[in-house]
Amino acid sequence: MMRRCVSASLVALLGLLLSGTRVQTEEVEPLIVHHPSDVVVKLGNPATLSCRVDGSPKPTIEWLRNGQPLGTQKGDGQVQPMLLSEGSLFFLNVGGGRRGPSHEGVYACIARNSAGKAISRNASLYIAGEMGT
Ligand SMILES: *[C@@H]1O[C@H](CO)[C@@H](O)[C@H](O)[C@H]1NC(C)=O
Repeated sequence: MMRRCVSASLVALLGLLLSGTRVQTEEVEPLIVHHPSDVVVKLGNPATLSCRVDGSPKPTIEWLRNGQPLGTQKGDGQVQPMLLSEGSLFFLNVGGGRRGPSHEGVYACIARNSAGKAISRNASLYIAGEMGT
């Protein structure tokens, strides 16, 4: 009798777990939960622009710079910024001055999955001390 009861609740629990799994595999369009914000960075210093997204399947993230897609495939953080695993963009050196390219600009992240896409607010990256070099 007791044993029967336990197995009945086990079956109920299993059912719950299975329906929970089904909810998770439903498609949910991307939602930007953390937008990048404006940053002022000293010439030659590192910087991070944040972007966090929700969605199912897990959205892929791309960045735009001044409205143009930004290459991050070979990002080493120096010449090209690096796309971090959670979606943020990392600059080992924002550049400026005479040493290499300047990464100053307006940035936005785009999240895409099979259910749709979302675009973040624009965030400006300013390099302090770039004038007058
Ligand atoms: C963001 O910046 C880009 C490039 O400057 C511009 O084309 C776009 O309209 C801006 N988007 C918003 C929401 O302000």
